[in-house]
Amino acid sequence: MKTEANAPSKANSRQKNGNHPSGDNRFTMLETSMKKLRYQPDALIEVLHSAQGLFGYLTSDLLLFVAHALKLPPSRVYGVATFYHFFTLEPRGLHSCSVCMGTACYVKGAGSVLAAVEGATGIKDGMTTPDGNLTISTARCLGACGIAPAVVYDGEVAGRQSPEDALEKLNEWEVKNGPE
Ligand code: FES
Repeated sequence: MKTEANAPSKANSRQKNGNHPSGDNRFTMLETSMKKLRYQPDALIEVLHSAQGLFGYLTSDLLLFVAHALKLPPSRVYGVATFYHFFTLEPRGLHSCSVCMGTACYVKGAGSVLAAVEGATGIKDGMTTPDGNLTISTARCLGACGIAPAVVYDGEVAGRQSPEDALEKLNEWEVKNGPE
C-alpha cells in the first residue's frame, strides 16, 4: 500500500518518541537515515535515494519534508530530484520492489536477493517490466539496518529477506518470469 508523504508542516510537530505524526514508519526510517548522514545538506542525493527506496517515488510532499529536514530551499531539492534520471516523481510499475544495497544489507546478502528478482523478471535495477506490473529499484540505506537485508514491497518494509522471500512476493503479484 502506498502512503502519500504527509505535509512537511507536520515535520515541525514530530512526536517526542521520534515517530512521524502520520504514523507511517517509513518517515522514522528516513529520519534515521538522515541522522546517520548528520542532516548534511551535501547528503541530499543520498537522502533522496533513501526516500525513493522507502516510498517508491518522490512526491512533492516528500521533497518538502526532506528540504525542511536538511534546511535546504525546496527549489534546490526539487531541482536535484528532477535533474537525475534515477529519481522519479511519479509511480512507475503497478508494484514496486526496492532492495536496499547499503553496507549492512549488502553484507547480509542483499545482492543475492536483487539477483533473484532480476533473474526472475529479466529486468534490471531501475527498470519496469514491459507489462507495467513491476518496477525494481535499489536504495543505499533505508534506515532499517537492524533488520538487514531489507526490501520495500509496495511501500511496506520487510526485514531479513531471502531470495526465496522476494520470489514469493513476485509470485503473489503474478509477475511473469522473464521479459515479454
Ligand atoms: S543498509 Fe541500512 S537499511 Fe540497508
